[in-house]
Formats: sequence, C-alpha cells, structure tokens
Amino acid sequence: MISTNSNIVLSSTSPKVETVSNVQPLISKQLFWKLFRLQAPQFIIKPENKEIIFSIFRYFLQLPNFNEYGVIKNKADLEKGLLVYGDYGVGKSTLFSAIHEVGRTIVSKTQNTQLWFPRISTVHMLSQYYESQKNLGSNFKLENYYQGKLYLDDLGKEDKAYNREELIGKLLFERHHRKFKTFVTTNENPSAIAARYGTHIGDRLPEMFNIIKWEGKSWRE
Ligand SMILES: Nc1ncnc2c1ncn2[C@@H]1O[C@H](COP(=O)(O)OP(=O)(O)O)[C@@H](O)[C@H]1O
Ligand SMILES: [Mg+2]
Repeated sequence: MISTNSNIVLSSTSPKVETVSNVQPLISKQLFWKLFRLQAPQFIIKPENKEIIFSIFRYFLQLPNFNEYGVIKNKADLEKGLLVYGDYGVGKSTLFSAIHEVGRTIVSKTQNTQLWFPRISTVHMLSQYYESQKNLGSNFKLENYYQGKLYLDDLGKEDKAYNREELIGKLLFERHHRKFKTFVTTNENPSAIAARYGTHIGDRLPEMFNIIKWEGKSWRE
C-alpha cells in the first residue's frame, strides 16, 4: 500500500512527465523524403550507397531500427551523434548539407526542431576564430558552439590554432561533456582522429558517436 502511494507521488512529479509535454511530433518519412527530393533533386541513391544513406535518414527520423543494415559497427544509439568518415568525394558533405537544408525548411514552416542543426566546416571555424582575435567587432566565440546540435564538416582538415591549440579537439571535448549531439563528416578514420586530438577524445568517440565508414567511388572523377 505504502509503495503504491509513493509510486503515484513519484510518477506525478518525475521530470519525465514534464518532458512529455514538450515533445514535438516526429517528422514523417513522407514529409522528409518530399523535402529532401526538392532540396537535392540531383542526389543519386544507388545500391552501393543506399544502405548508408537510408541509415542516416532513419537516424534523423529517430527510427529505433535505424541500424537495420548494420552499417554502424559500434553500439547504435539514437542518443549519440553521428561520425561519418571515409573516402573523398562519396557524398558525405552533400548529404549532410541537404539534410541541414531540410531541417531549416521544416523549422521555418512548423517550428519543429527535430531536424534542425547548425552547420560549419572546421576550416571555416578556424578562420572565424582568427578573425575574432584580430577584430574586436567580431561576435565569434567558440563557447557559442558548446551547446545544441552541431554539424562539423571536414573534421581534421583544419590547422591547429596558431600552430599550437587544437580548437576543434577542445570543442568536441566540451560538447561531449555537455552531452550534446554532434554530427561529423571527415576523411580521417577514428584512429587518425584519436592520434591528432589525443586519447581523451579518441577513447570517447564510440560513446559520442554512431560511427559509419563510407567507402566508394568519388563523384568528382
Ligand atoms: N549521391 C550523389 N549523386 C550525385 N552527385 C553526388 C552525390 N554525392 C556527391 N555528389 C557530388 O560529388 C561531389 C563530391 O561530394 P562531397 O559531398 O563533397 O563528397 P565528400 O564530402 O564525401 O568528400 C559534389 O560535387 C557532389 O555534388
Ligand atoms: Mg566533404
């Protein structure tokens, strides 16, 4: 009897109940696909790339079976971010840019933020950082990127800041600490990422990210 009562009290005050009221309806596959096609009509999906592309779509649609094709070799989890690495020119950046634009369209029309994430390349982030050091009028702050979702393109392509500081390593560390989802596309494999930014990042990659290796022929040829 006592335990039943305390259960009722617990469930009526648990934070879960509060979050439920904030949950937005999931974006449907149909809406996503329609907007994706409008956004990227030339983007070809063929047998060689379809399993990876559909797994990434399913991840953003928050479908629990998103790893049905088994393209994620570490533990697949919708609560983690995505790290897509592999061959140059296979379409990593193109795909994420198109999803970014779909997310932007959805948020502007419906306020639903499920697919919304800001996007920046690591090289551009470094140049904004340098600019902010020279120009007091700049409003760039690395800390502004510590929160919320973020898509980082071309991880590892950037230089060290002033040849000494790994700004992007710091960013990844701070974001992991705060448990925000990061999406990364890169030509560097996880060992190269670990070698560059250090084991404090390298060891955490599997818990931060669903890791996908994307190999194939370059569209640039
Ligand atoms: N699925 C695709 N269908 C047609 N063209 C593509 C596709 N994926 C990529 N491309 C084209 O190939 C080029 C390289 O793609 P990109 O996304 O930059 O590759 P990555 O980021 O993997 O190096 C781009 O010009 C892009 O438009
Ligand atoms: Mg790219």
